[in-house]
Amino acid sequence: MRTVIFLPDLRSARLSFHGTVGLVPTMGYLHEGHLSLIRRAREENEHVVVSIFVNPTQFGPKEDLSRYPRDLERDLRLIEPYTDLIWNPSAKIMYPPGYQTWVEVEAMTRPLEGAMRPGHFRGVTTVVAKLFNSVQPHKAYFGQKDAQQAAVIRQMVRDLNFPIEIVVCPIVREPDGLAMSSRNVYLDSEQRNAATVLYRSLSAAKEAYESGERDAEKIRGKMKEVLAAEPLAEVQYVSCADYDTLDELEEIKGKTLLSMAVFIGKTRLIDNFVLG
Ligand code: PAJ
Repeated sequence: MRTVIFLPDLRSARLSFHGTVGLVPTMGYLHEGHLSLIRRAREENEHVVVSIFVNPTQFGPKEDLSRYPRDLERDLRLIEPYTDLIWNPSAKIMYPPGYQTWVEVEAMTRPLEGAMRPGHFRGVTTVVAKLFNSVQPHKAYFGQKDAQQAAVIRQMVRDLNFPIEIVVCPIVREPDGLAMSSRNVYLDSEQRNAATVLYRSLSAAKEAYESGERDAEKIRGKMKEVLAAEPLAEVQYVSCADYDTLDELEEIKGKTLLSMAVFIGKTRLIDNFVLG
């Protein structure tokens, strides 16, 4: 396993790979969710590249960029068994002085996370396009945890003709249902208990769906009802939307994305279930 920082080193390492290359983009502080992507990449490719870069352009001015958790040494130890190459560029390498080119996906980035975090997806698609161009992988791995991000990246790949297969992997959860996230370390023990409310709320909605409920407003109501019973939870949005377009539904017919963003204290958590 080799770690590179600079583009010329990345290029020469990439040129030494013959056979298929899988890329797993991350912002580091890795957990089992990230590792599930990296193991899947290991199974499906001859070479695995992991990028670790806390991308400043996807954080809003009031978001947690400066306090985003980092532990490169631990990350390297965790991924060593599965990874050929780690790319850990600096912000100056990705965005040198005078930088002025952006990649923007339109309609699909407007609702949900896009509505709450203006500019977020412009930062994500720009950095992911740069990672794709630099690493030139055959396949790239993303988590269903960030459902809208995965949908937006699939759209970008179609629209810009990237010859890359996007593989979306299931959400890895703690035993009590909390979706793993680098941000979970911000939670104190009381908040950590309260944080299971996202999973409980999604489970209640799924149960209603499985008992035959198809009225999307009632499904959203069910999720809100469970969230309202948790005093530490402050709901930002709750959604029952078409899986492909992310448009809010009136009636559930085909594949459907239930999703939510909830503050537990100052920590913003997201989670989702797919129905149908
Ligand atoms: P980051 O939050 O580090 O996540 C990296 C990848 O791990 C994403 O594809 C995310 O969906 C996936 N992931 C996170 N938690 C997961 C879980 N519990 N189960 C399964 N997969 C999980 O997402 C980003 O970084 C950035 O936006 C990035 C794509 C790297 C661009 O900067």
